[in-house]
Amino acid sequence: MKIISIANQKGGCGKTTTSINLVATLAVNGKRVLLLDLDPQAHATLGLDRDDKNSIYNVISRITPRKLALKDIIQNVDHNFDIVPSNVLVGTLEQELADEIGREMKLTDALSTLKDAYDYVIIDCPPSLGFLTVNAIRASHEIMIPVETSRFSVQGVDHLMDIINLIRDRLNHPVVPRVLITMFDSRLRHSFSMLEKIKVKFADMLLSTIVHTNVKLKESAVEGKTVIAYDKYCRGAKDYYTLAKELIAIHQGVRLPEAVAAERVAPSVEAEFSPKMKEMVSREMRTILPTTFLLYAPDAQSVYVAGSFNAWAIDESCRMQKSGDHWLSSLPLGTGEHRYQFIVDGRWQPDPTNDRSESNGFGDMNSIVEVTAHAA
Ligand SMILES: Nc1ncnc2c1ncn2[C@@H]1O[C@H](COP(=O)(O)OP(=O)(O)OP(=O)(O)O)[C@@H](O)[C@H]1O
Ligand SMILES: [Mg+2]
Repeated sequence: MKIISIANQKGGCGKTTTSINLVATLAVNGKRVLLLDLDPQAHATLGLDRDDKNSIYNVISRITPRKLALKDIIQNVDHNFDIVPSNVLVGTLEQELADEIGREMKLTDALSTLKDAYDYVIIDCPPSLGFLTVNAIRASHEIMIPVETSRFSVQGVDHLMDIINLIRDRLNHPVVPRVLITMFDSRLRHSFSMLEKIKVKFADMLLSTIVHTNVKLKESAVEGKTVIAYDKYCRGAKDYYTLAKELIAIHQGVRLPEAVAAERVAPSVEAEFSPKMKEMVSREMRTILPTTFLLYAPDAQSVYVAGSFNAWAIDESCRMQKSGDHWLSSLPLGTGEHRYQFIVDGRWQPDPTNDRSESNGFGDMNSIVEVTAHAA
């Protein structure tokens, strides 16, 4: 039974989409697969229209009045495709077990009861590096890290690598990391330059399959279906089918010597486990403040603001509103520095009224804004 966590603390990089559709494509390839939803947001559970009354919380919690065995909460989705649902209570486990010795082994212990009932267990992790993700990594043989080719989206991967190294060193558990490119938009020039940088940075860890941006993946999620059930001929279905094939080939063919592969991760960090974890968790919980962007562009038809805060994605959430000759947008940003640009009728440009900027390595400048708690 191969256990693979889909993890990246960066939100919205395709963890749940990858989890659901990788499980579906592994299942149609004849593998018995369990999808374990470990995200208290329960997107995989709700996305597949499953009952979330019971969850992994009922298996791990010691104070729940409804204690259950893992096998009792498993629901069938399709042929070869089962799910362990999640719900909001899963988010309370970190606090409940804060003082418990061996708390990072909870999921490992729960999964050991399955013996070899499945060929694959795929764990959909939450967008954080706390207790749940540590449990998932400890329980896994491999970590698949979805990375978008938008600028700077790879930065957070280093923190995840630190955790993987900590678990290897402190808990004596090496895992094989693999990086999966998701939401690759071949219409954008920077997708290709980022792809080159990712290839250099992650080298052997990079999976050959690339998941392209495909609206059918979004639509299938809204419909509560896997992409192969929604439209099996679309690009998204083909990409996840290819990913399943690649993974099966890796596991059947030339098996990576796991310890050696895990050694390829960045060198061990020196920090103690608890302070490191605390620092990361507190970083995740930075203060969020509304921040207003303003651009004078009387003749523009459409203006967006994109930056390090939204992985440089151009979507509805960062479309600016016209107000006379200006364009306005107020976004909730964490405290700290953010890089950004405006996209005016499809053309990227820095903020002409902001003196703080820096070269972004793509031949143009990013503006820099610093959000501080005093600015509220
Ligand atoms: N390849 C893709 N093409 C188009 N849309 C995509 C693609 N992958 C994911 N999406 C969409 O992007 C959004 C975020 O994806 P998803 O929920 O899988 O990310 P996530 O990493 O699980 O997010 P979270 O961190 O909140 O758990 C969703 O609306 C999803 O439908
Ligand atoms: Mg998710």
